[in-house]
Amino acid sequence: MNDFVTVNEVGPRDGLQSQGKILSIEERLLMINALLASGIRSIEVGSFVSPKAVPQMAGTGELFGQLPMTEVVAYSALVPNMRGYELALAAGAKSIAVVLSATETMNQRNINMSLEQSTAVCAELLQRAREDGIEGRAYVAVAFECPFEGLTPARVVESLTLRMLEAGARKVIVADTIGAANPKSVRDVLGSLIGLDSASMLSCHFHDTRGMALANVLAALELGVREFDSSIGGLGGCPFSPGATGNLATEDLVLMLHSMGLRSGIEPLALVVTVQRIQALAGVPLGGHAFRWLQRQASKPQEAVHV
Ligand code: COA
Ligand code: ZN
Repeated sequence: MNDFVTVNEVGPRDGLQSQGKILSIEERLLMINALLASGIRSIEVGSFVSPKAVPQMAGTGELFGQLPMTEVVAYSALVPNMRGYELALAAGAKSIAVVLSATETMNQRNINMSLEQSTAVCAELLQRAREDGIEGRAYVAVAFECPFEGLTPARVVESLTLRMLEAGARKVIVADTIGAANPKSVRDVLGSLIGLDSASMLSCHFHDTRGMALANVLAALELGVREFDSSIGGLGGCPFSPGATGNLATEDLVLMLHSMGLRSGIEPLALVVTVQRIQALAGVPLGGHAFRWLQRQASKPQEAVHV
């Protein structure tokens, strides 16, 4: 069994985009540095979207220009359309994620496109990325339930996933945007996908709105998925999706992986200081289910610590 799991930190994008407080470029950079200090090596830095629609993400291009550049860190950005792609390219992004929602209404609300338009635009962006030597990934959002249309049929997720893979997506990120999945629905949706393609082409993005994110991660791990999105301290939500609170907290994910003997390259205790620093920057209380316990372990003499 492959025991390495990629933890892709989405706090600087999914986390910040719904916050009342708009962080400056300097504060967003401090956040990214705090994430890097804990050993996190895969980060969604921001999005190239309309600053009128999401003012929290204004200046992502400038932020890209100031990122600490090291070969071992994978930085990515979300792009909704060709304008965003061009801006990402100009900013030096090497990896992009397109965003396709599995329902008509969610596409309209999120990016002002129909499902058909959005599918075509995402495919075009992925093809363009491939030509430009940029890594392209695709979110399939509201893959389990949509706040406007209810339960999402698994066959819709399946066909959109295949379409994105055909267009050149290196991975499809199956996203539970409103935290409505449960381990059975994860098995149902991913099970049919994995029957068609390898689990190595999939990543999962869970929200912990109903406290089931880790159970969902376990269901996906058992199906062979080895890449997950998470957000430091559980920071997050989607401004266009009512009810999309609380991403899966990075410290919860990392601690569970570590406890199961899986490797992520991230030291669970190192995340305590990171959560505290980012809490101070974001100005909201942060911390997943395991945070208080990790905090207590971090304050003990090191020889007494068994994480
Ligand atoms: N980045 C920055 N500005 C953009 C842009 C992009 N990717 N795409 C369009 N714009 C600008 C246009 O230049 C135009 O600016 P102007 O009003 O100053 O002339 C304005 O936005 C409207 O452009 P238009 O092409 O008509 O877009 P729209 O109004 O249909 O909006 C999106 C489409 C995708 C730009 C907008 O819905 C959006 O940014 N949504 C954010 C989605 C998001 O981040 N969701 C959360 C993550 S999933
Ligand atoms: Zn999300």
